[in-house]
Amino acid sequence: MTTIAVLPGDGIGVEVTAVAQDVLARVRPDCTFERGFVGAAALDRDGTPLPAATLALCERSAGILFGAVGDPRYDHAAGDRRPEYAILQLRKHFDLYANVRPVALIPGLEAASSLREEFVRGLDLVVVRETTSGLYFGEPKYTREIEGVETAVDTLIYRVPEIERIAQVAFELARRRRERVTSVDKANVLESGRLWRRIVTKMHALAYTDVELDHLLVDNAAMQLVRDPLKFDVLLTENTFGDILSDEAGMLTGSLGNLPSATLGSSVGEAGRRFGLYEPISGSAPDIAGQGIANPIAAILSAALLCRYTLADEAGAARIETAVATAISNGARTRDIARGEERALSTVEFADRVLAAL
Ligand code: IPM
Ligand code: MG
Repeated sequence: MTTIAVLPGDGIGVEVTAVAQDVLARVRPDCTFERGFVGAAALDRDGTPLPAATLALCERSAGILFGAVGDPRYDHAAGDRRPEYAILQLRKHFDLYANVRPVALIPGLEAASSLREEFVRGLDLVVVRETTSGLYFGEPKYTREIEGVETAVDTLIYRVPEIERIAQVAFELARRRRERVTSVDKANVLESGRLWRRIVTKMHALAYTDVELDHLLVDNAAMQLVRDPLKFDVLLTENTFGDILSDEAGMLTGSLGNLPSATLGSSVGEAGRRFGLYEPISGSAPDIAGQGIANPIAAILSAALLCRYTLADEAGAARIETAVATAISNGARTRDIARGEERALSTVEFADRVLAAL
């Protein structure tokens, strides 16, 4: 049996993770699922967003199926007493530096996109975001009074090996796709941006000249994403820019609720199996939590990514992805992606359509 840690967390994370687990269990009856508390759900119980028992569960698991963390009740809490701290600590603890966020428009959802159909039909790009460094983790990091003025400091830091390893992920991925990497930085202003660009350029020249590489400044990249998204293949970027650009890219597919992600480290085990954390990028969505109406596509497609990377089961991953596409082409919609006369299904009804398509 393969143990998968299931960490539903907060808000809609609970609803979408439950159905994603059902789908994964159907495709992989050899998996056992063990639940742990994270985020506000853990803070409420244990006073910490990432209890030792949860970390221990993750340590003995092959991979983590993650829901969401975030709760407005903790908006004013200190850094390590915030729900979000759990996901940051998991990334750091397991050195999960490669956050892979496929942004694909599922045929049938063209009308749900924020852009007109002709701009998004056939959209298929991947954001490769660095997730263990940059502004999120750089030291010093504090809020204190300096010369009588309350002052907050975050540090944007990148070290050469951190840039090299994430660039490698992007180039390798591009080789299996349309062989094009767009690296995004702020090299016109930031020291870290200049180092980023220099190292990505060096890696390309050394080992990946078969892949086409170009560089965009982040403000320009944000604009190009809504001007001509079809031209992107692999979009490589640092932690904060990747957080922002992946939400922007998500809306091109019709809803943030459609976007899965895999966060991987470097260790590759037996038969290509990799430990990883799989999470919908949509967050906890407190405004609709508990109503049973959340879109579970991102969570279900995250389970597919778990199949692909952690279980090294490409066929299982493809089965789940095809089942989601079939449900959509048969007219299944949740509220966020229903347009015009389309009837909105609940989270569980939508998942039932996916299970039926399996
Ligand atoms: C994401 C989320 C997280 C991030 C939050 C919850 C800390 O927005 O995975 O994109 O900023 O990385
Ligand atoms: Mg985000």
